Amino acid sequence: MPASTVILGSDHAGFAFKNAVNHSLREAGFTVMEFGARSQESCDYPLVAGDVCRQVLATGAPGILICGTGLGMSMAANRFPGIRAALCTNEYLARMTRAHNDANVLCLGSRVLGEALAESIISVFLNTAFDGERHQRRIDQLETLNANS
Ligand code: RB5
Repeated sequence: MPASTVILGSDHAGFAFKNAVNHSLREAGFTVMEFGARSQESCDYPLVAGDVCRQVLATGAPGILICGTGLGMSMAANRFPGIRAALCTNEYLARMTRAHNDANVLCLGSRVLGEALAESIISVFLNTAFDGERHQRRIDQLETLNANS
């Protein structure tokens, strides 16, 4: 996913983490579109996930969503058709979810990861290409999956 823009959002629990990630992405030359918490005042992760996912769908740029665990953000993001959000806690998951799942949103838990590990996960996520081939068939199946099929 060779991207030049990243769509970044967090709730209050991920606010400090988001600032650190924003800083390192900009240092690395990325343009960052930021959404969500502007302070540690409580806010609601589903609304932030919605803002970020709409931008990911509109621009094709990858998204990064941060909350306390990453769980709520991943649940919210995966409600959007076309979004494939993956909660990653190590670099292997980040590599595989790009290569096999063509994930377009990375979810991180600020209360789970240290910043150095998070930055390493982000780097792998942004620099790993989708493998395509048989995996594309499965991605297509994801988009047609519903309770009646
Ligand atoms: C906020 O306390 C916390 O619930 C939220 O950041 C997230 O971890 C939810 O999944």
